[in-house]
Parts: sequence; structure tokens; C-alpha cells
Amino acid sequence: MATISQSSPRLRADEVSGEVVPAAHANIVLELIGNTPLLEITRLTEGLLRPRVSIFAKLEGFNPGGSVKDRPARKMLEIGLARGDLRPGKVIIDSSSGNTGIALAMIGATIGYPVELVMPANASRERKKILEAFGAKPIYSDQLEGSDGAIRLCRKIVAENPERYFKPDQYNNEANSLAHFETTGPEIWRQTEGRVTHFVATIGTSGTVMGTGRFLKPRNADIKIIAVEPDDPMHGLEGLKYMAASIVPGIYHEDELDDKMPVSTEDAYEMVYALGQFEGILVGQSSGAAMVAALKLARDLNEGCVVTVFPDFGDKYLSTNLWIGWQEWRRERLQHLIRKWNVSANATT
Ligand SMILES: Cc1ncc(COP(=O)(O)O)c(C=O)c1O
Repeated sequence: MATISQSSPRLRADEVSGEVVPAAHANIVLELIGNTPLLEITRLTEGLLRPRVSIFAKLEGFNPGGSVKDRPARKMLEIGLARGDLRPGKVIIDSSSGNTGIALAMIGATIGYPVELVMPANASRERKKILEAFGAKPIYSDQLEGSDGAIRLCRKIVAENPERYFKPDQYNNEANSLAHFETTGPEIWRQTEGRVTHFVATIGTSGTVMGTGRFLKPRNADIKIIAVEPDDPMHGLEGLKYMAASIVPGIYHEDELDDKMPVSTEDAYEMVYALGQFEGILVGQSSGAAMVAALKLARDLNEGCVVTVFPDFGDKYLSTNLWIGWQEWRRERLQHLIRKWNVSANATT
């Protein structure tokens, strides 16, 4: 059995310099996790931002499992193996709305452990197929109970047979945030050459915003760490949590945030269409939400470097509600929509 190699060593800010150089070749797919590109969003924002304001999106869809969740999945399993909690004979199990499941299934396949994933029955068809393609076993919870239903069912399965399972428990495992502290944060610092002024990230488990924020804040206390959440408990933003009505993740520490921004499902979907038609990039719903928040924030700045995260690409969602009725949203109407986002900006720094 191969061990998980650490391709993204812990870095101090003063050690972070030069270009991000992805591995020229790798002998295990895990070495390809991280070092994702930053894309400056310029077309969709044309005429909306002041000259010294820019928005960059970290394209996490470039990870081998196709999402940001490859980072925490690798770290949680690595620490599990190092502590001996994950050892031969164990089955990896967790509740996941999809991307963590895919990441665990991919890594389980490479390190030779079976994986079982509990998810709401309405997870997208593409995600279910991807999991099975990696050899994992899906277990379905009641779709009406959303991700909390999957969490509860997974707890029950493990409680009935604790010896059989290793549960990374992404909602309560600090290795989740640590992965972002060790990789996402340093990459953003290095890719912006320390110029980042605002970090904007959607919250599901909150690992991305917590860990990245924890890396960036000590480098520059003025950097604002902003979480984006759905504005409604009945939202359609896969992977995201409306905290006030959810089981709050143990790794979520609201006091470490500078602000929280609500985004509606409708705005997020429209932004997904706009990103496709203006920037030529097809992303998932949560990326749309992240971009709406980044734009709302950036248009009020006199200067700044706003960095957000696009957690995955959009191909997994083509059969979901996101794409019902989208034909209404052709370029002309989107242009109108973008003007709507450009309402009287009150400049602050
Ligand atoms: C598509 C998508 N977006 C955003 C997130 C939120 O990331 P985090 O769990 O780090 O808060 C997730 C988490 O699963 C996700 O799958």
C-alpha cells in the first residue's frame, strides 16, 4: 500500500516566493492536488470596478478529483494513517454532499482502502456515477433532510459498528482547515505576491475559509476574511450550508471572520451563466455564489485585490435544477443583469 506523500509542505510567509511550479510529473495522483491556477475575472467585470481593483478566482476544479475537497480529504486520511486510526481492515466512511465523497473515493482507490459514502438521495446523477467509477459504495439518506440527514445517517451507521469504520468527519476534523492553512493560503499569498486584501469563500464545512483565513491574517492583519452563505435554508446551492438552520460544523469559528455575505440561489445561478458566457468558464453553483459576493464587495472598493475560490467546475451539475430554464439567460439579458449589480457604489477602501 502506498503512503500519502505530502506534496505541499508547510510554508512560512517569508519562505513563500517565486512561481508556483506544479509537479512536472507525478508517480501518484495525490501529488497533483493543489497548486491550482488563479484566474483574473476581467470580462464580466468590465466597467464595474475602479482601476486599482481586481478580482481573482482560484480554480479548484483543476484538482485531480475535480474540486477543492481533494485538499482536506488527503490531509484527513494522511493524519488518520499517521495516527493508526486508519489501518488495514478499516472502511473509510463519511457523509458528503458529493465533492468530499469523490475525493475520498479517489484517494481510497490510490491507497487501497474501501470507501462508503452517505449522501442525500438527490445528489446529482453525475456525482453518483463518479463515486461508483472510483469503486466506492454510495448509501442514500432522505433527500428532504439535505446534508444534515446524511450526517445523521452516517453517525448511526458508525455507531452500530464502530470497529469497522474510519470516519474522517470533515465537519469536525481540524485536518480539514489545516489542509487549507498548509496549501490554499500559501498558494494565494504567493500567487498574489502578498497583495491580497480580501479573501471571500463559500461555507459548507467552512474548512476553506477557516484554514485559508488563518494563514493569511497573520501575514497581514488588514486582509478581510469573508464567508459567503446562502440567504435561505431552502437554497439550491450544492455543497453550501445556511448556518442558522444547520448542524454547525465543529471546525467553524465565526469569530475568526470579518464579515458574512448572504447570496440568493437566483443570483448565484445567473452568475454561473454569466461566467460561462463572458469568461468562458463553466463552474458549479457555489462558484456563482462566491463570484456574486466578490463582485458586490469589489465594486465598492477604491483599491483592492479580492481573491475568491471557485470550488469546482460545472460539468457535474448539468442534470440539476441549475440548468432548467437557463436558455432565458442569454448574453443580452445577462448584460442587463450585470448593470443591475453595478448599482450606486459607495466607495470605501
Ligand atoms: C461545491 C462546493 N462548494 C463549496 C464547498 C464549501 O467548502 P468548505 O467545506 O471548505 O466550506 C463545498 C464543500 O463540500 C463544495 O462541495
